[in-house]
Amino acid sequence: MCQPGEITTIRFSDAELAEIKKNPPRDLSHIDPNKPMLALTFDDGPCKHTERLLDIFAQHGGKGTFYVVGNLIDERPDALKRMVAEGHEVGGHSWGHKDLSELSTEGIREQLMKTKEKIHEVTGYWSVTMRPPWGNVNDRVRTVAKESGLSMILWSVDTLDWMLQDADKVYESVMSQVKDGAIILMHDLHGTTVDAMERVIPELLAQGYQLVTVPELLLFNDGTMDPGKEYSSR
Ligand code: NI
Repeated sequence: MCQPGEITTIRFSDAELAEIKKNPPRDLSHIDPNKPMLALTFDDGPCKHTERLLDIFAQHGGKGTFYVVGNLIDERPDALKRMVAEGHEVGGHSWGHKDLSELSTEGIREQLMKTKEKIHEVTGYWSVTMRPPWGNVNDRVRTVAKESGLSMILWSVDTLDWMLQDADKVYESVMSQVKDGAIILMHDLHGTTVDAMERVIPELLAQGYQLVTVPELLLFNDGTMDPGKEYSSR
């Protein structure tokens, strides 16, 4: 899935960097503080199943968060445009699905900023969160993420959907682990995961869960979300 992308070093002016780092204020008035909420997150796309997942959200309601691999974006720019237009959140999952903790500072910067720039080029949106592949971070990654205006999003529920590869088992994995404030890790790369979402999304909504994006989940607490910091739940 991840061909080695052509990496060029990105250099921005101070004014561009200020724009890139800004974390725009969001209207959270649609979120009910008296009802539980959680964030469904999907890594490793965009891929052939991604738009079907967007269709499921469009049919039932709720929003998702997509952590996309930079070098796959040009294959499916329409999927990213739909994510932003339909109120979902999009962030980077590195340019080439790299273990960021094994890279130099400059290498990390290329992986994060080239992806952030590509998301902006396609959607007009400067992403404010990213997910490090395998959740691997270290102090170099924290420093570059902070410079790049990116909060690092881990998870509190690991569905193991990539291993299960079975829609019924993914459904059971999600439904048995959900709780208020959770960030749930899944992969739209797998058709079985998207199949499971045909049941999971309406079922969670029926149980009263608000399916919010990661920034909505985090900002709902006290209105802050710090670049360079790791978050795994509300
Ligand atoms: Ni991944």
